Amino acid sequence: MKTRTGFADVLVGMQYGDEGKAKIVDRIAGDYDIVARFNGGANAGHTVQTPQGQARLAQIPSGVFHPGLSLYIGSGCVVNLTKLADEIASLRDAGARIDGRLYVNERCAVIQPMHLDFDARHGAGIGTTGNGIGPCYADLALRWHRGMRSVVQVRDLVADDAGAFEQMLRYAAQFDDAPAARAATADRVARMRAAWRTLRETIVVTDALWLTHRVKAGARVLFEGAQSVMLDVAGGEQPYVTSSHTAPAFAFVGGDLSNRYHRKTIGVAKAIVSRVGEGPFPTEFGGERSARYCADAALRGTGWREERDRFDAASMLASEDDFDMGIALRMLTGEYGTGSGRPRRLGYLDLAALASAVERHAVDELYLNKCDCLSWFAKTHAGEIPVLGIALSEGGRSVPAIRRFTAFEALPRNVHRPEDLPGALQALLQAVEQATSCRIAGIGLGPGRNQLLTLSEGDGAHDA
Ligand code: IMP
Repeated sequence: MKTRTGFADVLVGMQYGDEGKAKIVDRIAGDYDIVARFNGGANAGHTVQTPQGQARLAQIPSGVFHPGLSLYIGSGCVVNLTKLADEIASLRDAGARIDGRLYVNERCAVIQPMHLDFDARHGAGIGTTGNGIGPCYADLALRWHRGMRSVVQVRDLVADDAGAFEQMLRYAAQFDDAPAARAATADRVARMRAAWRTLRETIVVTDALWLTHRVKAGARVLFEGAQSVMLDVAGGEQPYVTSSHTAPAFAFVGGDLSNRYHRKTIGVAKAIVSRVGEGPFPTEFGGERSARYCADAALRGTGWREERDRFDAASMLASEDDFDMGIALRMLTGEYGTGSGRPRRLGYLDLAALASAVERHAVDELYLNKCDCLSWFAKTHAGEIPVLGIALSEGGRSVPAIRRFTAFEALPRNVHRPEDLPGALQALLQAVEQATSCRIAGIGLGPGRNQLLTLSEGDGAHDA
Protein backbone atom coordinates (compact mmCIF):
# COMPACT_ATOMS: atom_id res chain seq x y z
CA MET A 1 0.00 0.00 0.00
CA LYS A 2 1.32 3.46 -0.89
CA THR A 3 2.07 5.68 2.12
CA ARG A 4 0.41 9.07 2.07
CA THR A 5 3.01 11.79 1.60
CA GLY A 6 3.32 14.28 4.44
CA PHE A 7 3.41 18.07 4.29
CA ALA A 8 4.96 21.11 5.91
CA ASP A 9 3.25 24.10 7.49
CA VAL A 10 5.26 27.19 8.32
CA LEU A 11 4.68 29.33 11.40
CA VAL A 12 6.29 32.77 11.57
CA GLY A 13 6.14 35.92 13.67
CA MET A 14 4.50 38.86 11.90
CA GLN A 15 6.00 41.79 13.80
CA TYR A 16 9.43 42.32 15.42
CA GLY A 17 9.82 39.00 17.24
CA ASP A 18 8.59 37.91 20.67
CA GLU A 19 5.01 37.48 19.44
CA GLY A 20 4.55 34.29 21.49
CA LYS A 21 5.26 31.82 18.68
CA ALA A 22 6.42 29.10 21.06
CA LYS A 23 3.09 29.16 22.87
CA ILE A 24 1.24 28.52 19.62
CA VAL A 25 3.72 25.84 18.50
CA ASP A 26 3.35 24.14 21.85
CA ARG A 27 -0.43 24.21 21.45
CA ILE A 28 -0.63 22.85 17.90
CA ALA A 29 2.44 20.55 18.01
CA GLY A 30 0.23 17.52 18.60
CA ASP A 31 -0.93 17.78 14.97
CA TYR A 32 2.61 17.23 13.68
CA ASP A 33 5.41 14.63 13.71
CA ILE A 34 8.38 17.00 13.43
CA VAL A 35 8.95 20.57 14.59
CA ALA A 36 11.80 22.14 12.65
CA ARG A 37 13.86 25.31 12.81
CA PHE A 38 15.12 26.88 9.60
CA ASN A 39 16.83 30.13 10.60
CA GLY A 40 18.64 31.91 13.40
CA GLY A 41 20.35 30.46 16.43
CA ALA A 42 20.76 31.30 20.09
CA ASN A 43 19.44 34.82 19.41
CA ALA A 44 15.90 33.42 19.60
CA GLY A 45 14.20 33.42 22.98
CA HIS A 46 11.13 31.22 23.12
CA THR A 47 9.24 30.73 26.36
CA VAL A 48 6.88 27.81 26.96
CA GLN A 49 4.89 26.99 30.06
CA THR A 50 5.31 23.40 31.18
CA PRO A 51 3.78 21.45 34.04
CA GLN A 52 7.15 22.00 35.80
CA GLY A 53 7.05 25.77 35.22
CA GLN A 54 8.44 28.08 32.58
CA ALA A 55 11.06 26.80 30.14
CA ARG A 56 13.24 29.01 27.97
CA LEU A 57 14.30 27.80 24.57
CA ALA A 58 16.84 29.36 22.26
CA GLN A 59 17.99 26.78 19.73
CA ILE A 60 15.79 23.77 20.38
CA PRO A 61 12.42 23.69 18.60
CA SER A 62 9.43 24.51 20.79
CA GLY A 63 7.87 21.07 20.37
CA VAL A 64 10.37 19.67 22.86
CA PHE A 65 7.78 19.04 25.56
CA HIS A 66 5.79 16.75 23.25
CA PRO A 67 7.72 13.49 23.68
CA GLY A 68 6.46 11.84 20.49
CA LEU A 69 7.81 14.54 18.19
CA SER A 70 11.11 14.65 16.35
CA LEU A 71 13.00 17.95 16.51
CA TYR A 72 15.01 19.25 13.60
CA ILE A 73 17.55 22.05 13.23
CA GLY A 74 17.91 22.83 9.53
CA SER A 75 20.98 23.96 7.63
CA GLY A 76 19.75 27.58 7.63
CA CYS A 77 20.46 27.77 11.36
CA VAL A 78 23.71 28.68 13.10
CA VAL A 79 24.66 26.61 16.12
CA ASN A 80 26.24 27.76 19.37
CA LEU A 81 27.66 24.50 20.75
CA THR A 82 28.10 25.62 24.36
CA LYS A 83 24.64 27.13 24.61
CA LEU A 84 23.05 24.14 22.89
CA ALA A 85 24.65 21.72 25.37
CA ASP A 86 23.54 23.93 28.28
CA GLU A 87 20.02 24.16 26.89
CA ILE A 88 19.79 20.40 26.56
CA ALA A 89 20.98 19.98 30.16
CA SER A 90 18.41 22.39 31.54
CA LEU A 91 15.60 20.87 29.47
CA ARG A 92 16.55 17.45 30.82
CA ASP A 93 16.29 18.89 34.32
CA ALA A 94 12.83 20.14 33.40
CA GLY A 95 11.83 16.59 32.46
CA ALA A 96 12.21 16.65 28.67
CA ARG A 97 13.77 13.71 26.83
CA ILE A 98 16.17 14.85 24.12
CA ASP A 99 18.38 11.85 23.31
CA GLY A 100 17.82 10.34 19.90
CA ARG A 101 15.18 12.82 18.76
CA LEU A 102 17.11 16.02 18.10
CA TYR A 103 18.31 15.98 14.49
CA VAL A 104 20.80 18.60 13.30
CA ASN A 105 21.70 19.16 9.66
CA GLU A 106 25.40 18.65 9.00
CA ARG A 107 25.65 21.94 7.10
CA CYS A 108 24.68 24.23 9.99
CA ALA A 109 27.39 26.83 10.53
CA VAL A 110 28.98 26.86 13.98
CA ILE A 111 29.32 30.09 15.96
CA GLN A 112 33.03 30.68 16.52
CA PRO A 113 34.70 32.67 19.31
CA MET A 114 35.60 35.35 16.79
CA HIS A 115 31.91 35.83 15.96
CA LEU A 116 31.03 36.44 19.60
CA ASP A 117 33.89 38.94 20.00
CA PHE A 118 32.98 40.79 16.83
CA ASP A 119 29.29 41.01 17.77
CA ALA A 120 30.16 42.19 21.29
CA ARG A 121 32.32 44.95 19.81
CA HIS A 122 30.12 46.10 16.94
CA GLY A 123 26.59 44.78 17.46
CA ALA A 124 25.56 47.26 20.16
CA GLY A 125 25.10 49.99 17.54
CA ILE A 126 21.99 48.24 16.25
CA GLY A 127 21.12 46.42 19.46
CA THR A 128 21.94 42.83 18.50
CA THR A 129 21.54 40.05 21.05
CA GLY A 130 25.33 39.59 21.13
CA ASN A 131 25.18 35.95 20.02
CA GLY A 132 27.54 36.34 17.08
CA ILE A 133 24.73 35.73 14.60
CA GLY A 134 25.63 38.40 12.04
CA PRO A 135 29.37 37.64 11.91
CA CYS A 136 28.66 33.90 11.57
CA TYR A 137 26.27 34.32 8.64
CA ALA A 138 28.68 36.83 7.12
CA ASP A 139 31.51 34.31 7.33
CA LEU A 140 29.33 31.62 5.80
CA ALA A 141 28.81 33.89 2.79
CA LEU A 142 32.45 35.01 2.80
CA ARG A 143 33.70 31.39 2.56
CA TRP A 144 37.41 32.21 2.47
CA HIS A 145 39.53 34.77 4.28
CA ARG A 146 43.29 35.30 4.17
CA GLY A 147 44.03 31.84 2.88
CA MET A 148 41.67 29.86 5.09
CA ARG A 149 38.02 28.84 5.36
CA SER A 150 35.99 31.38 7.31
CA VAL A 151 33.26 28.94 8.32
CA VAL A 152 33.12 25.77 10.37
CA GLN A 153 30.11 23.56 9.74
CA VAL A 154 28.80 20.76 11.92
CA ARG A 155 30.07 18.25 9.38
CA ASP A 156 33.61 19.60 9.84
CA LEU A 157 33.32 18.72 13.51
CA VAL A 158 32.04 15.27 12.64
CA ALA A 159 34.93 14.67 10.22
CA ASP A 160 37.76 16.04 12.38
CA ASP A 161 36.79 17.93 15.51
CA ALA A 162 40.39 18.57 16.61
CA GLY A 163 41.11 20.14 13.21
CA ALA A 164 37.92 22.22 13.29
CA PHE A 165 38.67 23.66 16.73
CA GLU A 166 42.25 24.37 15.64
CA GLN A 167 40.85 26.26 12.65
CA MET A 168 38.69 28.40 14.96
CA LEU A 169 41.75 29.32 17.03
CA ARG A 170 43.74 30.28 13.94
CA TYR A 171 40.83 32.23 12.48
CA ALA A 172 40.36 34.27 15.66
CA ALA A 173 44.10 34.99 15.81
CA GLN A 174 43.89 36.63 12.39
CA PHE A 175 41.78 39.37 13.94
CA ASP A 176 43.35 39.72 17.36
CA ASP A 177 46.69 38.15 18.09
CA ALA A 178 47.31 39.75 21.49
CA PRO A 179 48.07 37.24 24.30
CA ALA A 180 44.93 38.20 26.25
CA ALA A 181 42.73 37.67 23.20
CA ARG A 182 44.41 34.34 22.44
CA ALA A 183 43.82 33.18 26.02
CA ALA A 184 40.15 34.22 25.92
CA THR A 185 39.64 32.37 22.62
CA ALA A 186 41.40 29.27 23.93
CA ASP A 187 39.12 29.30 26.96
CA ARG A 188 36.02 29.56 24.77
CA VAL A 189 37.24 26.78 22.49
CA ALA A 190 37.90 24.54 25.50
CA ARG A 191 34.29 24.98 26.56
CA MET A 192 33.12 24.32 23.02
CA ARG A 193 35.16 21.08 22.94
CA ALA A 194 33.50 19.90 26.13
CA ALA A 195 30.07 20.84 24.76
CA TRP A 196 30.74 18.99 21.50
CA ARG A 197 31.67 15.82 23.44
CA THR A 198 28.23 15.92 25.09
CA LEU A 199 26.40 16.86 21.92
CA ARG A 200 27.91 13.97 19.96
CA GLU A 201 26.19 11.59 22.32
CA THR A 202 22.86 13.39 22.18
CA ILE A 203 22.17 14.84 18.76
CA VAL A 204 21.76 12.99 15.49
CA VAL A 205 23.64 14.67 12.64
CA THR A 206 21.72 14.32 9.38
CA ASP A 207 22.24 14.97 5.70
CA ALA A 208 20.36 17.07 3.14
CA LEU A 209 17.73 14.40 2.41
CA TRP A 210 16.70 13.42 5.93
CA LEU A 211 13.62 15.64 6.11
CA THR A 212 12.57 14.85 2.54
CA HIS A 213 12.64 11.13 3.29
CA ARG A 214 10.60 11.61 6.44
CA VAL A 215 7.98 13.69 4.60
CA LYS A 216 7.80 11.22 1.74
CA ALA A 217 7.12 8.56 4.35
CA GLY A 218 4.19 10.63 5.64
CA ALA A 219 5.64 12.98 8.28
CA ARG A 220 3.78 16.19 9.04
CA VAL A 221 6.24 19.02 9.62
CA LEU A 222 5.81 22.32 11.40
CA PHE A 223 8.53 24.82 10.54
CA GLU A 224 8.97 27.27 13.38
CA GLY A 225 10.41 30.65 12.42
CA ALA A 226 12.76 32.51 14.73
CA GLN A 227 12.67 36.33 15.00
CA SER A 228 9.98 37.65 12.64
CA VAL A 229 9.24 38.65 9.09
CA MET A 230 9.92 42.33 9.81
CA LEU A 231 13.48 41.46 10.88
CA ASP A 232 14.32 39.62 7.65
CA VAL A 233 17.87 40.42 6.55
CA ALA A 234 16.71 41.55 3.12
CA GLY A 235 13.00 42.30 3.63
CA GLY A 236 13.37 44.30 6.88
CA GLU A 237 14.76 47.78 7.45
CA GLN A 238 18.54 47.48 7.18
CA PRO A 239 20.58 47.70 9.34
CA TYR A 240 17.99 47.07 12.07
CA VAL A 241 17.38 43.45 11.18
CA THR A 242 18.71 40.03 12.07
CA SER A 243 21.10 38.27 9.69
CA SER A 244 18.97 35.40 8.45
CA HIS A 245 15.93 35.17 6.21
CA THR A 246 12.91 35.05 8.48
CA ALA A 247 10.35 35.00 5.66
CA PRO A 248 8.27 31.80 5.57
CA ALA A 249 9.42 30.93 2.05
CA PHE A 250 12.93 30.51 3.45
CA ALA A 251 11.70 27.55 5.52
CA PHE A 252 12.08 25.55 2.32
CA VAL A 253 15.72 26.53 1.95
CA GLY A 254 16.97 26.70 5.52
CA GLY A 255 14.73 23.79 6.48
CA ASP A 256 16.05 21.46 3.77
CA LEU A 257 12.77 20.53 2.12
CA SER A 258 11.27 21.22 -1.30
CA ASN A 259 8.49 23.81 -1.37
CA ARG A 260 6.40 21.15 -3.13
CA TYR A 261 5.39 19.98 0.35
CA HIS A 262 4.13 23.35 1.59
CA ARG A 263 0.57 23.23 2.90
CA LYS A 264 -0.15 26.47 4.77
CA THR A 265 1.45 29.46 6.45
CA ILE A 266 0.51 30.49 9.97
CA GLY A 267 1.29 33.99 11.26
CA VAL A 268 1.59 34.95 14.91
CA ALA A 269 1.10 38.56 16.00
CA LYS A 270 0.66 40.33 19.30
CA ALA A 271 -2.16 42.75 20.21
CA ILE A 272 0.34 45.11 21.85
CA VAL A 273 3.50 45.16 19.74
CA SER A 274 7.06 45.05 21.08
CA ARG A 275 10.48 45.56 19.58
CA VAL A 276 13.94 45.02 21.06
CA GLY A 277 17.03 46.66 19.69
CA GLU A 278 17.16 49.72 17.48
CA GLY A 279 15.10 50.44 14.38
CA PRO A 280 11.91 52.07 13.15
CA PHE A 281 8.77 51.48 15.19
CA PRO A 282 6.01 53.85 14.01
CA THR A 283 3.47 53.06 16.76
CA GLU A 284 5.86 53.17 19.74
CA PHE A 285 4.40 54.68 22.91
CA GLY A 286 6.59 57.67 23.69
CA GLY A 287 8.27 57.52 20.25
CA GLU A 288 11.94 58.54 20.13
CA ARG A 289 12.08 59.07 23.89
CA SER A 290 11.09 55.49 24.53
CA ALA A 291 13.53 54.21 21.90
CA ARG A 292 16.40 56.12 23.56
CA TYR A 293 15.37 55.08 27.05
CA CYS A 294 15.24 51.37 26.09
CA ALA A 295 18.55 51.53 24.20
CA ASP A 296 20.15 53.12 27.24
CA ALA A 297 18.66 50.49 29.57
CA ALA A 298 20.03 47.72 27.32
CA LEU A 299 23.51 49.26 27.45
CA ARG A 300 23.44 49.60 31.22
CA GLY A 301 21.89 46.21 31.71
CA THR A 302 18.88 47.57 33.59
CA GLY A 303 15.61 45.72 33.31
CA TRP A 304 12.42 44.81 35.10
CA ARG A 305 13.86 44.94 38.63
CA GLU A 306 15.00 48.53 38.26
CA GLU A 307 11.70 49.58 36.68
CA ARG A 308 9.76 47.86 39.44
CA ASP A 309 11.81 49.65 42.09
CA ARG A 310 11.62 53.03 40.38
CA PHE A 311 8.12 53.35 38.99
CA ASP A 312 4.55 53.01 40.14
CA ALA A 313 2.84 51.29 37.22
CA ALA A 314 -0.73 51.99 38.32
CA SER A 315 -0.35 55.77 38.42
CA MET A 316 1.86 55.94 35.34
CA LEU A 317 -0.71 54.00 33.33
CA ALA A 318 -3.15 56.91 33.75
CA SER A 319 -0.56 59.50 32.69
CA GLU A 320 -1.31 61.77 29.75
CA ASP A 321 2.27 61.22 28.62
CA ASP A 322 2.50 58.20 26.28
CA PHE A 323 6.09 57.61 27.35
CA ASP A 324 5.00 57.02 30.97
CA MET A 325 2.04 54.96 29.87
CA GLY A 326 4.36 52.80 27.77
CA ILE A 327 6.59 52.07 30.76
CA ALA A 328 3.56 51.15 32.85
CA LEU A 329 2.21 48.85 30.12
CA ARG A 330 5.60 47.12 29.86
CA MET A 331 5.65 46.50 33.60
CA LEU A 332 2.06 45.26 33.69
CA THR A 333 2.40 43.00 30.67
CA GLY A 334 5.93 41.72 31.44
CA GLU A 335 7.60 42.80 28.21
CA TYR A 336 11.27 42.16 29.00
CA GLY A 337 13.77 40.11 26.96
CA THR A 338 13.59 36.35 27.61
CA GLY A 339 17.34 35.93 27.77
CA SER A 340 18.61 39.44 28.41
CA GLY A 341 15.84 40.85 30.64
CA ARG A 342 16.17 44.15 28.77
CA PRO A 343 13.05 46.31 28.47
CA ARG A 344 11.23 45.88 25.18
CA ARG A 345 9.94 48.94 23.37
CA LEU A 346 6.13 48.88 23.28
CA GLY A 347 3.62 50.17 20.80
CA TYR A 348 0.04 49.78 19.67
CA LEU A 349 -1.10 47.37 16.99
CA ASP A 350 -0.05 48.44 13.50
CA LEU A 351 -2.74 46.94 11.27
CA ALA A 352 -1.34 48.55 8.14
CA ALA A 353 2.01 46.80 8.64
CA LEU A 354 0.32 43.55 9.63
CA ALA A 355 -1.93 43.57 6.55
CA SER A 356 1.02 44.21 4.31
CA ALA A 357 3.04 41.36 5.87
CA VAL A 358 0.08 38.97 5.58
CA GLU A 359 -0.28 39.81 1.91
CA ARG A 360 3.44 39.69 1.14
CA HIS A 361 3.84 36.25 2.71
CA ALA A 362 0.41 34.82 1.79
CA VAL A 363 -0.42 33.98 5.39
CA ASP A 364 -3.38 31.60 5.64
CA GLU A 365 -4.31 32.07 9.28
CA LEU A 366 -3.37 34.31 12.16
CA TYR A 367 -3.00 33.96 15.90
CA LEU A 368 -3.24 37.14 17.95
CA ASN A 369 -1.53 36.84 21.32
CA LYS A 370 -1.85 38.92 24.46
CA CYS A 371 -5.44 40.02 23.81
CA ASP A 372 -6.02 39.93 27.58
CA CYS A 373 -3.42 42.69 27.97
CA LEU A 374 -5.63 45.09 26.00
CA SER A 375 -7.82 45.44 29.10
CA TRP A 376 -5.11 47.65 30.68
CA PHE A 377 -6.18 50.37 28.26
CA ALA A 378 -9.36 50.75 30.35
CA LYS A 379 -7.17 52.34 33.03
CA THR A 380 -5.33 54.71 30.71
CA HIS A 381 -6.04 58.41 30.41
CA ALA A 382 -7.98 58.01 27.14
CA GLY A 383 -9.68 54.73 28.12
CA GLU A 384 -9.44 53.55 24.52
CA ILE A 385 -7.43 51.01 22.55
CA PRO A 386 -5.54 52.67 19.69
CA VAL A 387 -4.89 50.70 16.51
CA LEU A 388 -3.09 52.01 13.45
CA GLY A 389 -5.36 51.20 10.54
CA ILE A 390 -5.75 52.22 6.95
CA ALA A 391 -8.19 54.82 5.66
CA LEU A 392 -8.95 56.23 2.26
CA SER A 393 -7.92 59.86 1.78
CA GLU A 394 -10.06 62.29 -0.20
CA GLY A 395 -7.97 61.56 -3.26
CA GLY A 396 -8.78 57.86 -2.83
CA ARG A 397 -5.28 56.92 -1.62
CA SER A 398 -4.75 54.50 1.29
CA VAL A 399 -3.29 56.39 4.25
CA PRO A 400 -2.50 55.28 7.81
CA ALA A 401 -5.12 56.41 10.32
CA ILE A 402 -5.51 55.74 14.03
CA ARG A 403 -8.71 53.94 15.01
CA ARG A 404 -9.84 53.81 18.60
CA PHE A 405 -11.75 50.93 20.16
CA THR A 406 -13.58 51.19 23.46
CA ALA A 407 -11.42 49.60 26.13
CA PHE A 408 -12.89 46.69 28.03
CA GLU A 409 -12.39 45.77 31.67
CA ALA A 410 -10.64 42.51 32.61
CA LEU A 411 -11.93 39.50 30.67
CA PRO A 412 -14.49 37.22 32.28
CA ARG A 413 -12.90 34.12 33.84
CA ASN A 414 -12.79 30.97 31.73
CA VAL A 415 -13.81 32.25 28.34
CA HIS A 416 -14.61 29.17 26.27
CA ARG A 417 -16.47 30.62 23.31
CA PRO A 418 -15.82 33.67 21.11
CA GLU A 419 -19.31 34.93 22.01
CA ASP A 420 -18.15 35.27 25.63
CA LEU A 421 -15.56 37.87 24.68
CA PRO A 422 -16.33 41.54 25.39
CA GLY A 423 -18.04 43.24 22.41
CA ALA A 424 -15.18 45.73 22.01
CA LEU A 425 -12.65 42.91 21.64
CA GLN A 426 -14.89 41.13 19.14
CA ALA A 427 -15.06 44.36 17.13
CA LEU A 428 -11.29 44.72 17.21
CA LEU A 429 -10.79 41.16 16.03
CA GLN A 430 -13.22 41.73 13.20
CA ALA A 431 -11.25 44.82 12.19
CA VAL A 432 -8.06 42.74 12.13
CA GLU A 433 -9.68 40.10 9.90
CA GLN A 434 -11.08 42.76 7.60
CA ALA A 435 -7.83 44.69 7.25
CA THR A 436 -5.74 41.58 6.65
CA SER A 437 -8.32 39.50 4.74
CA CYS A 438 -7.09 36.65 6.89
CA ARG A 439 -8.97 34.58 9.42
CA ILE A 440 -7.91 34.58 13.05
CA ALA A 441 -7.47 30.99 14.15
CA GLY A 442 -7.00 31.77 17.82
CA ILE A 443 -6.23 34.43 20.40
CA GLY A 444 -3.99 34.43 23.46
CA LEU A 445 -5.79 35.29 26.69
CA GLY A 446 -2.95 34.76 29.16
CA PRO A 447 0.48 33.19 29.47
CA GLY A 448 -0.74 29.72 30.46
CA ARG A 449 -0.66 26.76 28.11
CA ASN A 450 -4.44 26.61 28.07
CA GLN A 451 -5.11 30.31 27.82
CA LEU A 452 -5.58 30.22 24.09
CA LEU A 453 -9.04 30.53 22.61
CA THR A 454 -9.61 28.82 19.29
CA LEU A 455 -11.76 30.99 17.06
CA SER A 456 -11.95 28.94 13.91
CA GLU A 457 -11.05 25.37 13.10
CA GLY A 458 -9.95 23.89 9.79
CA ASP A 459 -6.57 23.27 8.27
CA GLY A 460 -6.66 26.57 6.38
CA ALA A 461 -4.60 25.16 3.54
CA HIS A 462 -5.04 27.48 0.57
CA ASP A 463 -5.07 24.56 -1.78
CA ALA A 464 -7.18 22.19 0.33
P1 IMP B 1 20.86 39.56 16.16
O1 IMP B 1 19.86 38.63 15.56
O2 IMP B 1 21.36 39.13 17.51
O3 IMP B 1 21.98 39.91 15.22
O4 IMP B 1 20.11 40.96 16.43
C1 IMP B 1 19.61 41.77 15.36
C2 IMP B 1 18.27 42.40 15.74
O5 IMP B 1 17.28 41.36 15.82
C3 IMP B 1 18.26 43.10 17.09
O6 IMP B 1 17.39 44.23 17.02
C4 IMP B 1 17.67 42.07 18.01
O7 IMP B 1 17.07 42.62 19.14
C5 IMP B 1 16.65 41.41 17.09
N1 IMP B 1 16.34 40.03 17.50
C6 IMP B 1 17.12 38.94 17.35
N2 IMP B 1 16.50 37.86 17.87
C7 IMP B 1 15.32 38.27 18.33
C8 IMP B 1 14.22 37.62 18.98
O8 IMP B 1 14.19 36.40 19.20
N3 IMP B 1 13.18 38.42 19.32
C9 IMP B 1 13.16 39.74 19.07
N4 IMP B 1 14.14 40.39 18.47
C10 IMP B 1 15.22 39.67 18.12
